[in-house]
Amino acid sequence: MECCQMDINMDEVGFDLNGKNVIYIGGFGGIGLNTCKQLVQKGVANLMILDQVWNESAFNEINVVDTKHVCQFMAFDVTCGLEETRAIFTRIVEKFGHIDVLINGAGIADERDFDLIIATNFTATINATLVAYDLMDKSKGGKGGVVLNIASVAALTPFPSLPIYSATKGGILNFTRALALLEPKTGIKLYTICPGPTSTKHFEDVHCFLGKNLIVSERLRRLVKPQLPADCAMNIVKAMETNANGATWLCDMGQLKLVEIKNFWTPPHKRNKEAEQKKGSEPNKEAEQNKETERTKELEQNEKTSQTAETVQKGETSQKEASAEQAKATVRNPTEQVTAEKKTDETMPLRKRRYLICDLGRDMQNICKT
Ligand SMILES: NC(=O)c1ccc[n+]([C@@H]2O[C@H](COP(=O)([O-])OP(=O)(O)OC[C@H]3O[C@@H](n4cnc5c(N)ncnc54)[C@H](O)[C@@H]3O)[C@@H](O)[C@H]2O)c1
Repeated sequence: MECCQMDINMDEVGFDLNGKNVIYIGGFGGIGLNTCKQLVQKGVANLMILDQVWNESAFNEINVVDTKHVCQFMAFDVTCGLEETRAIFTRIVEKFGHIDVLINGAGIADERDFDLIIATNFTATINATLVAYDLMDKSKGGKGGVVLNIASVAALTPFPSLPIYSATKGGILNFTRALALLEPKTGIKLYTICPGPTSTKHFEDVHCFLGKNLIVSERLRRLVKPQLPADCAMNIVKAMETNANGATWLCDMGQLKLVEIKNFWTPPHKRNKEAEQKKGSEPNKEAEQNKETERTKELEQNEKTSQTAETVQKGETSQKEASAEQAKATVRNPTEQVTAEKKTDETMPLRKRRYLICDLGRDMQNICKT
């Protein structure tokens, strides 16, 4: 995995948030609150904040930005399971008409309870994505849409102190990439945001693997200067506007970078296609090489002919000696040897010839003709 130079124009708005219906899960968290404020500034039509507990001051902070939008809140525990998630999304659709954007932003970094961290970070993201998917899917009568899943830098570089957290975030990344491939059918674009350390409650509330509470977190805090949640939020919105389906965004130290993830395995049904593409590009290379070999052979042949002519003219060596000379020269120069052999080969019956690879194709053609 590496960060690549963007060939995506970040200044171009590929997706206009203005007038959109958005659900933000975990909207009262540090990154959530700041992103919601930005979304409101961008003119979203409806913003539904889903979070575990009501937070009046956070809600007012979001609402104060603009009055044109409709900002609402519903209490929602992401670990409630698929059916309850479906029920709450159905209620939101009844209110808004449809959903344009889902942001899965709830998360914890407490490894003391394995089940809870997997349920909160991973299973909940899958449940909410699949429910929204059903509602947005163009092939099922939906309008399409966008799902943005918040993972972590731990999805790109796993942390030994947080193996389960890293696994949940890595899982989100691959889940998102996989579903993004269905976009031509569903009209749903998905991407992953991988924030680096950000100064929120989450960053302060890290409980490491095997219960080594806060030790790494304190060390982390001494070592790392976390980015501001407002900067992270600004870049999340920028990534949304860029609208690159399947993209993985690194959102760290106040910067936004596109992460290039290489595939190391090609599914069998795509291998033939790849081989054909490769073939299509190879002949040019091969033709160039063949031309070059032909040119070298021609030059060598010319040189040889003029040498032989000179020899005959001067009468210094007999014809025998000249061929001996030539034979010696061919041993010194393997390319020349090939040329000489080819000449004699052509007078021989096909089955006795020593084949050059390029001869084989030509002879096969001749055989087919006869
Ligand atoms: N802060 C960081 O350093 C950092 C780094 C990488 C990734 N992240 C990720 O960014 C996302 C947002 O984190 P944050 O930094 O704003 O942290 P935060 O703790 O401020 O916010 C997390 C939000 O998730 C909500 N939440 C937690 N459990 C929930 C549940 N069961 N049901 C509903 N809501 C629940 C919380 O109420 C809170 O609003 C998380 O997914 C986190 O893993 C954060």
